[in-house]
Amino acid sequence: MTRLTNPLHSWFLGPKGENEQLLKELLDSALQAHLSWRRGYHPEDPSPIPAEASSTPAAASQRAELKGQFAALLRQLRGSVPFFSGRYNGHMLSEQTIAAQAAYFAAMLYNPNNVSGEVAPVTTQLEGEVAEQLARMIGYDPWRCWGHLTSGGTIANFEALWIARNVHYYPVGASLAARSLGVDVPVSMPGGSLAMLRDLDLWQLLNIRPECSLDLWEKLWAAAPKQLVESALSRHSLASLGYQDYSRQLTREFGDPLAAGVVLAAGTSHYSWAKIVAALGLGSNQLVLVPVDRECRMDPDSLWREIESLTNKRIPIMACVSTCGTTEEGAVDDLQRILEVRERAQRELGVTFHIHSDACYGGYAASLTRAPGGSRHAPGAIREMLGTAQWPTDQWVRSLSALERADSVSIDPHKLGYVPYPAGAFLLKDKRGRELVSTDPPYLAVATSRENGEQPVIGRFIFEGSKPGASAAATWLSHKTIPLNSAGHGKIIASTLRGARELYALLGSSDFAPFRVIRLAEPDLNIVCFLLHHPSLTTLSDINALNETIYRELSPDAQMSAPYMITRTRLTSPGYDGVIEPLLSLLGGDIGRSPETAAEGLTILRATVMNPFSSQGGPDYLLGLTDSVRQVAMSFLRDPATMVASRPAARS
Ligand SMILES: Cc1ncc(COP(=O)(O)O)c(C=O)c1O
Repeated sequence: MTRLTNPLHSWFLGPKGENEQLLKELLDSALQAHLSWRRGYHPEDPSPIPAEASSTPAAASQRAELKGQFAALLRQLRGSVPFFSGRYNGHMLSEQTIAAQAAYFAAMLYNPNNVSGEVAPVTTQLEGEVAEQLARMIGYDPWRCWGHLTSGGTIANFEALWIARNVHYYPVGASLAARSLGVDVPVSMPGGSLAMLRDLDLWQLLNIRPECSLDLWEKLWAAAPKQLVESALSRHSLASLGYQDYSRQLTREFGDPLAAGVVLAAGTSHYSWAKIVAALGLGSNQLVLVPVDRECRMDPDSLWREIESLTNKRIPIMACVSTCGTTEEGAVDDLQRILEVRERAQRELGVTFHIHSDACYGGYAASLTRAPGGSRHAPGAIREMLGTAQWPTDQWVRSLSALERADSVSIDPHKLGYVPYPAGAFLLKDKRGRELVSTDPPYLAVATSRENGEQPVIGRFIFEGSKPGASAAATWLSHKTIPLNSAGHGKIIASTLRGARELYALLGSSDFAPFRVIRLAEPDLNIVCFLLHHPSLTTLSDINALNETIYRELSPDAQMSAPYMITRTRLTSPGYDGVIEPLLSLLGGDIGRSPETAAEGLTILRATVMNPFSSQGGPDYLLGLTDSVRQVAMSFLRDPATMVASRPAARS
């Protein structure tokens, strides 16, 4: 590919608006099509606005007021973060594809509300197709799975746990409902044997594989008339009783109050999980942190030990959250091994749970593993395509390929999908699970499936209600024109991964004397984390102050005067012990070893190299960023008064 045939050059507006003409044409044709649509609808209807209305003084003054305020808004917007520039490597914020921008604008004019096909007949169909595009990228069977767009990753993650919880507890309610109905049905056990539902004790009921719980759901509906099953389930299920009554019922029926089920997640997981366990009433104590390794990935051996220990205490596990692209480091968990740990738990301990992959950030990297025809590339073929010898590793490719075996996956188009906010996506491998959270809106036409040619009522199965059809149109057109494979979207991802690796190498090879740059593990995606150290600094607080200063100098202010922009985060114990320990060894001495300083945590600098053009020629922004970090550090040396009070970092 020469510099003149690079498709990335026409997929984005461009840092200098190089593709202005294309965007103008698309926006103008969207407006013209919309006007013609309005005018073509009952053309016989007269206009309610008299022709001369626009020439009155009042109308002229309203127009002037609007134009004035609009110009003021445009001026204010110039204070936004310059996401389009290679100088911005801060949060997960970057360019949007022209396709997405134009489609968003076009659909926005029609104001479709994707809560239901009744109010958005076109864009709800597009939303279904987006789910199918994403499903094919990760390897879900589009006929078996279900997916939809959300306002973002937090809600997609929420829905994953909402469904996981209801599927997990379903067999308990089903068993009590079966007793009251006088029926019984066979259930597959984690080890593969069959048992009758009513013979199972509470522990066994809480350890039915998610797909077997859903088989059970179907079997129970077939075992008795629908209304009787409905009423029996509503008298016994967690979803209708709520935790207090449910626990009372368990004590009464099984002589055993429910041991609170836990959710396993690594210390690197996104803070949305803390919100979600609280919002679902599970309690934040039930979010159990699994140790991470020095690569910031969930440690599968520690996961196994945690499962064994919980099983010994007879504490049920509702779900395990694995991350594909951690927020702070872009680390990709070894999902394949995590799935193997679950298989082992099923086999050896009779224990099982839902596995969710929070691929909100990294999910789009799966596009690199797909050939244009849809088949999966072997790791060697990806390396050959990228002209790299060792990267991506076999394990990396295996982890992304394993997304197809997770029970649910969240992927955000508004992150590495390069489409405008709001656009998260939730994918569920077995679509029956959505029935366990469904609510029929009485005022919207209720229909269950698109396959029946009926209007989809997305709102029936999701947490949100009204939501923008424009997001569906934007994501759909972007995927349609930049397909989710190695010849399409994979090129954007590859370019940013390359950029991050270049920055990582530059930080390692540049002369920062008298400072030392300490880098976290090589990036799995496109986030580079590092910190600076100086021999005169002997406490963790001082080292944190140095790095806080660098962050402060390289972060947005009102004038956007920083030459480059990055962010920082704070690694704290115990969630990050696996990462902090090796870093402290590199710092040397006893730095950070006392309990007080360990509690303070370690500030690290973080550069999100999301800009598609970072490694595509043009200005060498990565070298510029490296130089800026050095210069800011030098000024710290000249003026230690710039030391800032260390304070906990907020996560993006
Ligand atoms: C891994 C991960 N999960 C979930 C989220 C939450 O996404 P959102 O901000 O779209 O709600 C983020 C956001 O950065 C994330 O990085």
